Amino acid sequence: MRFIHLYLVGYFVLMAAVGEAHLLNLSIAATWQRNGHGSTLLREAAKLAASLGAKNLFLEVRPSNLGAQALYKRFGFRKVAIRRDYYPAHSGREDALVLTLPLE
Ligand SMILES: CC(C)(COP(=O)(O)OP(=O)(O)OC[C@H]1O[C@@H](n2cnc3c(N)ncnc32)[C@H](O)[C@@H]1OP(=O)(O)O)[C@@H](O)C(=O)NCCC(=O)NCCS
Repeated sequence: MRFIHLYLVGYFVLMAAVGEAHLLNLSIAATWQRNGHGSTLLREAAKLAASLGAKNLFLEVRPSNLGAQALYKRFGFRKVAIRRDYYPAHSGREDALVLTLPLE
């Protein structure tokens, strides 16, 4: 019997509806980070969102997640809002920064 081992390097989850898209998740396996894969997936997510008719791409990110914020800033995402107490945190809750990227 032969086995094929598949290793998931990364994934994203996108929801698109009525002219807007929401990036619900973007993750790269820890050992594969800082190799450009997050940028590649983010580019694909934006392309997919545009192909589904979205004019803007939205996402939430923790204020403490400086790495992800650096990635999003490089792509041209801008901060448009703060959702108070959005995420569970070690002690209590953490806000979310809401970022958006125009797709046209
Ligand atoms: C955020 C995440 C998706 C980035 O994926 P990645 O494959 O490491 O990103 P890239 O290699 O394409 O990075 C592109 C640029 O983003 C910035 N960046 C990415 N991760 C960074 C970090 N940890 N610290 C500082 N800058 C970072 C850098 O400018 C980087 O370019 P450089 O490596 O040439 O300096 C990945 O770190 C991850 O999955 N983290 C855990 C889950 C998570 O936080 N997801 C986002 C939730 S909103």
